[in-house]
Parts: sequence; C-alpha cells; structure tokens
Amino acid sequence: MPITATVATPSLRIVPLDAPLGARIDGVDRSQPWDAATAAAIQQAFLTRHVLVFPGATMDPAGVLAFARRFGDTVAEVNREKRLGELPEVSRINSTIKAIEPGKDLQFHVQTSLRSEEWHTDQSFVERPAKATILHAHEVPSRGGATWFCNTAAAYDALSDDMKRRLTGLKAVHGYDTARARYRPAVRTQEEIDESPDVVHPLVRTHPESGRKALYLNFNRLDHILDIPRAESDAILDELAAWVAQDRFIYRHNWTVGDAVVWDNRCTLHRVCYDSPVGDRRVMLRVVTQGDRPF
Ligand code: OGA
Ligand code: MN
Repeated sequence: MPITATVATPSLRIVPLDAPLGARIDGVDRSQPWDAATAAAIQQAFLTRHVLVFPGATMDPAGVLAFARRFGDTVAEVNREKRLGELPEVSRINSTIKAIEPGKDLQFHVQTSLRSEEWHTDQSFVERPAKATILHAHEVPSRGGATWFCNTAAAYDALSDDMKRRLTGLKAVHGYDTARARYRPAVRTQEEIDESPDVVHPLVRTHPESGRKALYLNFNRLDHILDIPRAESDAILDELAAWVAQDRFIYRHNWTVGDAVVWDNRCTLHRVCYDSPVGDRRVMLRVVTQGDRPF
C-alpha cells in the first residue's frame, strides 16, 4: 500500500499511516451525514487500511452512536453493567490505573481492563462477532496507554507455506473465558451466560468484503483447536501468539482527546499497553457493529 494521501473530495484527506495498517481521515465532519463520494472513499480506506483514525472534538454518547452507525448496525454489550444508561449500545470504559500494588496486578476502576492487554479481536465468543469497533477518547493519560493494532491479513500472508497448510481447515473453540487466558472476565448473570455459549470459528477466516484471508485469533477467548490433542493445540496457539506480536505487523496508536478510532475486527487484533502514570485518567466511549459468521 503506497504511503500517499488520497484526495477523494475537496475537503477529505485520507493519509495512510507509516505502518502496516491504519489511515488518518482529515477534513470530514463526523456529526453530519456523508455524501456518497466521501462514504465510498472512507469505506475503501476501511477495507484496505483496517484501522481509521478520525481526529476531532469530543462527542457525547448520542454523537458517537450516530457516527458508529456509518460502520454498520450497532449492537448492545453482552454485559449489562457495561452498558451506558439510555443507550445500551454505548459503553463507557474507564481504564484509569488506580494503583500499582507490589506483587499484585495493576488496579483499575474496572478490573477486567487488564484483559485488554492481551491480543484480541472483539466479541469472538459469539457466533456473529463484531465487525467494527469505534473507540472515542474522552480522557487520555499524559503519556502511555497506547492501543496497538496487528494486521492479521499481513500476518497470515507472511506465514510459511507449511504453516498455511497446517492451519488449513482448522477450527477452534472460543469461549467467554478459558484457562489459557491470563486474566478473568467480568462475571456473567445467568441471562448473559445463556446468551453466550462457546462457539467454533475457523483459525483462518476469509474477509467477507475483500476476500482476503486473515488469522482469526483471540488470546482471551481461544480455548483449543478442534480434533487435535490439546498439547498440539496449545503449541500452535502459542506459536501464533508470538507470530502476530512482531513489529512488522503492528501500528501503535497514541491517543489524543477527541480521537475516534474505528477498526475492522475481521482482519486485526488489538491490545492496550498499560504503561501510563497511576491516576492519569483514561476514559473512552465504545460502540461495536454487527459482523457476519466467520468462514
Ligand atoms: C476495546 C479495547 C482497547 C483500549 O474497546 O475493545 O480493547 O485501548 N480497548 O482501551
Ligand atoms: Mn477490545
């Protein structure tokens, strides 16, 4: 992908980031409907760059929701407690580090924040996982707290032919929780448990819009690969975890207040880097849109 700006309309500027994924979108009013040329150019950038950064002023929950709807049908969080009042599709995430206690995990306002340090794609524990996630920064720490993104289509392409053959046709069980994950998720109510049984997804998925293959992984949710011994499954998953963490596949987003970042969960992984000063507030609004069943 050439690193040059594409000018689609007189005001719109799409600038690919100097990274294996990501583009910055300037000159677009996030609060107004987009004309067809603008919408098409942004959609094209979404499909080729996978992560879009829209700088701007902060939006309120209704504003973020309206913006998110440009990227699909918005869906409510499984966990009721993460939902924001009147708008169940909008969550407010407070991932401020409250304290560092020696010998213990970092302490957060919401302790499950720790889980977002692991490479993951959103909602892979459901049958039709998220297509896009929209994360909008209300408060950001004075330094640190970046979100890292991995291009899993590039990571797939770079695999050896042997490894590609080994992964062909393999499917894996994703669950709300798995013993392989380092940290535990929020406890579900019985209603939420009934809504989120374990699911099976291919390890390599085909993007429904671009047709590109990508690794489909989530180290918080992946329990095991079907039809092979667990030890072999663990070895493959560990190897893939090291593979996707290579710099050559990664963009690190350092947040500015007001940024809205939209990513394609079908061909990316993300994780947070919790290295910001204790007490520096980190507060985001978040919306996800409905995806298809991976194939
Ligand atoms: C998420 C997530 C990362 C962050 O919202 O799905 O993983 O940087 N957040 O807060
Ligand atoms: Mn996430």
